[in-house]
Amino acid sequence: MSSSGREVILGVGGGIAAYKSCDLVRRLQDHGYLITVVPTPACLNFVGVATWEALSGRRVLTQVWEDVPGVAHIHLAREADFILIAPATADLIARIVQGRADDLLTNIVLASSAPKMIVPAMHPMMWLNASTVENVSILRSRGFIVLDPDIGRLTGSDSGAGRFPETGRILEEFHQMVGENADFLGRKILVTAGGTREPIDPVRYIGNRSSGKQGYAIAQAAIARGAQVHLIAANCALADIEGVKITKVESAAELESAIDEDFEWCDALIMCAAVADAKPVRRDSQKIKKNALSSIELEPTPDLLAKAASRRRPGQVIVGFAAETEDHLANAEKKLQDKGIDLLYVNDVSGGAIFGSDMTRGSVISKDGIIITVSEGKKETLANVLLDQVQNRLSLPNV
Ligand code: CTP
Repeated sequence: MSSSGREVILGVGGGIAAYKSCDLVRRLQDHGYLITVVPTPACLNFVGVATWEALSGRRVLTQVWEDVPGVAHIHLAREADFILIAPATADLIARIVQGRADDLLTNIVLASSAPKMIVPAMHPMMWLNASTVENVSILRSRGFIVLDPDIGRLTGSDSGAGRFPETGRILEEFHQMVGENADFLGRKILVTAGGTREPIDPVRYIGNRSSGKQGYAIAQAAIARGAQVHLIAANCALADIEGVKITKVESAAELESAIDEDFEWCDALIMCAAVADAKPVRRDSQKIKKNALSSIELEPTPDLLAKAASRRRPGQVIVGFAAETEDHLANAEKKLQDKGIDLLYVNDVSGGAIFGSDMTRGSVISKDGIIITVSEGKKETLANVLLDQVQNRLSLPNV
């Protein structure tokens, strides 16, 4: 087992549906899975190594002879958290049933105890042949999850049971096997994190103490729950999250255009970033000398949260954050209403607490007046508390 818990071997058999697995690689990556593609030699007749390497961003091997010192079959089998074989041909299924080890993929299958899912695709005559029927039932009795193929048009003019299922169905079944609470499957979440910097001159800026940890924790939790996530990060010194699209910005204006670009796309905007409330009217192109720095003229930045709320479509959920040092709940309720948003997390930042920390405490308030007190805990925990609330609202009928 890998430390990430998300390492997936995608085995690809030699069927024409191999080309559809190119999309499957991408969609699995969208959900934060780390994919190593292991094609069978026959698969390479349809889709070559270069395509799999380009899509997965990883080296692709098909035979045990290709990396002998690396003992690839044992190494990959040990690292895999899950094995997904899509498409699986009748021949590949038969070889797995017999416990053969005549290519890298079948070696890995034998050497790994990870949960395995098989997505067959073949001509209906082959799928319904007594050998295949028996082989599939043997695999199921051994704990493999074997999807039934779809019914429909096949290569050539034939149709029947044997079609490779739609990517969405494979993903759904895969998530079920992984056992995750995939309640955000199919949902698109836009998260902002960090703090904006408003340039004064090429050297100086007005900034704030936000680290971005809370926004990153939300992005991480959302992808683990099956969402597609776009994280807009303002000046965060944090490692990228695999599977999450990350756009790096600096100023409030850059943050604004990044939100504008994807607001329409998302089902929920979670506005964790600390946006500077004001910016210098002028950005000097030269460094200002200290004797000319007695004052900086400021102008307000637009309220991005209020702007998003004012142009949202029905059903879109908007979450804000507030940092307060006194009268937390009263201030938060006013903010929630003034900005026209659905949920707001207010944290107590008196004494510099929370900024840069892995911990948080505060309250989630909703526009229906529900208040959830979040006692001191990890930012990951708050991330899931908030996502639960977002999920509740997303499931409401659009009014
Ligand atoms: N926000 C925004 N655009 C701004 C300022 C803030 O979208 N120009 C968002 C932040 O991302 C956050 C919430 O609004 O989700 C915070 O609201 P704000 O009124 O700025 O809260 P405080 O900074 O706590 O405000 P104040 O200084 O007035 O207490």
